[in-house]
Amino acid sequence: MSDIIAEINRAVSEAEGRAAAAAAAAEIEAVRIDYLGRNGLFPALSRRMGEIPPELRRAAGGAFNAGRTRIQAAIEAAQQRLASGGEEKDAIDLTLPGRRGAAGRIHPISRTAEECAEIFRRMGFIAVDGPEIEDIYHNFDALNTPMDHPSRDPQDTFYFPDGRILRSQTSPVQIRVMETHTPPVRIVAPGRVFRRDTPDATHGMNFHQIEGLYVDKNVSMADLKSVLQRFAHEMFGPDVRIRLRPHFFPFTEPSVEYDFSCVVCGGKGCNVCKNSGWIEIAGAGMVDPAVFKAVGYDPAVWSGFAFGLGIERLAMLRHRIPDLRLLYENDVRFLRQF
Ligand code: DAH
Repeated sequence: MSDIIAEINRAVSEAEGRAAAAAAAAEIEAVRIDYLGRNGLFPALSRRMGEIPPELRRAAGGAFNAGRTRIQAAIEAAQQRLASGGEEKDAIDLTLPGRRGAAGRIHPISRTAEECAEIFRRMGFIAVDGPEIEDIYHNFDALNTPMDHPSRDPQDTFYFPDGRILRSQTSPVQIRVMETHTPPVRIVAPGRVFRRDTPDATHGMNFHQIEGLYVDKNVSMADLKSVLQRFAHEMFGPDVRIRLRPHFFPFTEPSVEYDFSCVVCGGKGCNVCKNSGWIEIAGAGMVDPAVFKAVGYDPAVWSGFAFGLGIERLAMLRHRIPDLRLLYENDVRFLRQF
C-alpha cells in the first residue's frame, strides 16, 4: 500500500521536471491542470485516500501534502523565470563584480583609543576597564579632591538621585586598580567620561580619555617624560616635541600639563595652535602620597606617575577634524572617510 506514496513521489518529480523545462506560459498551465486541476492527478489521489488502511493513512497524507506544495512551488518558480525574461542562466551576468555588503567600520574614536592603548602596550602597560557609573569616593575622595573643588559641583558633574555619578574622568580607574592589585602597576584605562559642558567645536557632554598609571620603586618625573615623549613620537612622528608646564591636579604632586609641538604647523604657529606653536594634550604628574594612602600603598616605598589624555583631541589632530561634533553625529558620509 506504500504504492500510493511511490506514485505521489513519481508524479512530483515528473511535474517538477516539466515545470522546469516549460518555455511558455501555456506549458506551465498544462502542468497545473494535469496535476492540481479539478480532473488532475492530485484530486484523484485524494479520492483514493479513503481506501488506504488507517495505519498508513498518515504517511500517505504527509506525502500527498508535501508533494502538492512542491508542485505549486515548481509552478511558481517557472512563472517567475518566464516573467524575468527567460532562462535563469541568462538573467545573471557572471562577469559583473559582486555587490559588497555594508560591513561598517571602526569609529575614529574607538580606533584612536585602540591605537593609544597599543602604543602604551608596547611600553609594558596593560589596558584595563572601569565603570562609567562611579561613586564619589573613587571619582573624587580617594583622588584627594578638596571638598570645594569645582569639579564636584552638580553644575559640572552628572549626579544620580542616589548620590552616584557619571564619572567625570578616567582617574578613578587608578584607584580601582590599586585597591585590587599590589605594586608594581603599569596600566592604561581608555574610556568614556561625562561633564556638564555646553557642546561646541571642542567640548561635549561626554568624551573619552585614556588614563595611565605607573607605580614602582624609584619612579621619577624623567620616566614620565620619556613615556610621554615616546607616545608623542609613535602617535605623531619623530619630529614632535613635548613640553611640560606646571599645573595643579589634586591627585598628583607635582602636576603638569603637557603640550605637543603643533602637529599641523610643526611649531611655527597656525590657527590650530592659536599661533603658539604648542597644543595642550593632557594632564600628568607624580602620584600624590595622599592617593597612595587611600589605597593602602606605603608612600615611603612606592612612587609613581599618572597621566590622562583626551582621545577626541588626538583623533582630531591626527585626522585634522575641525569640529568635535562631527565625531558624534553618526553621519556615514563623515565616518566613511576613516
Ligand atoms: N583627570 C584629569 C582631567 O580629567 C586628567 C589627569 C591629569 C589625569 C593628571 C591624570 C593626571 O592621571 O595625573 O582633567
